[in-house]
Amino acid sequence: MPGTTVPPRPCRLAPSILSADFARLADAVGAAERAGADWIHVDVMDGRFVPDLTFGPKTVGDLHRATGLPLDVHLMIERPDRWIDRYADAGADYLTIHVESTPDVAGTLAAIRARGVRPGVTLDPDTPLDRLLPHIGAADLVLVMSVRPGLGGQEFIPGSLERIAAVRQALDERRLSAELEVDGGIKPGNARAARDAGATVLVAGSAVYLDPDGVSAAIAKLRRTLA
Ligand code: DX5
Ligand code: ZN
Repeated sequence: MPGTTVPPRPCRLAPSILSADFARLADAVGAAERAGADWIHVDVMDGRFVPDLTFGPKTVGDLHRATGLPLDVHLMIERPDRWIDRYADAGADYLTIHVESTPDVAGTLAAIRARGVRPGVTLDPDTPLDRLLPHIGAADLVLVMSVRPGLGGQEFIPGSLERIAAVRQALDERRLSAELEVDGGIKPGNARAARDAGATVLVAGSAVYLDPDGVSAAIAKLRRTLA
C-alpha cells in the first residue's frame, strides 16, 4: 500500500568463534554475549571435508557450560550422521550439515531432530540450489554459504545475494518458517544487503573477532547497519 512501510525482517547475529583466540574461547563467547550477540556459531572441521581441523564435541560441551547463548554448530565434516549423538549430548542447539557430506541428507536431518536438536542444512557456494531445496522442509535452519567453507576472513561472493533471495522465495512459497542464515564475508558494508535479500541470521567471524576496536564495538557496527 502506498505510504506504508514494511518493517525490516528481524535479523540475529551469530559471531563465529573461528576467528577468536582458541586459547581464550570462554572470554570470546563472554564478550559476544555481553555485546548482545544472539547465538554463537561454532565451525566444526574434520581435516577431511575441509582441510583444517577445529573443534570436537568436548569443546562444544565446554562452550555450552560457558554461555547461555544458543550454540549454532556448523558441521564441516564427512559423514555427520556418525557424530549426531556426540554433539547432541554436548548441548548443540542447532546442528547444520552439508548436502555434500553424507549420502543420506534426509535421514541425517531426521536423526538430528529425533535427538531434540534443531536440524540445519547447507551447501557449498558452487553446489546448485537444486541439491538444497528438497531438504528445506525438514530443516529449522537453512544456511547459504557466501564463501567456500573451511576458512575465516574470505571475501563475500557477490552472487550469494541471489542465492539468499532464491532460498527466501522457496521458503515463503512453501510457508516454511526456518531460519535463513548467511555465513562468510559478512561485514558492516554488506550485512544489510544480506538481511534485505531475506536472511534472518548473519554469521560474522573476522568482522567480530578481528576488529581492532574490539568485539563490543564490532557487534555495535553490525547492529547499526541493520537498524
Ligand atoms: C567458513 C566458516 C565461517 C567463518 C566465517 O568456513 O563456516 O563460519 O567463520 O568467517 P568470516 O565471517 O570471517 O568470513
Ligand atoms: Zn560456519
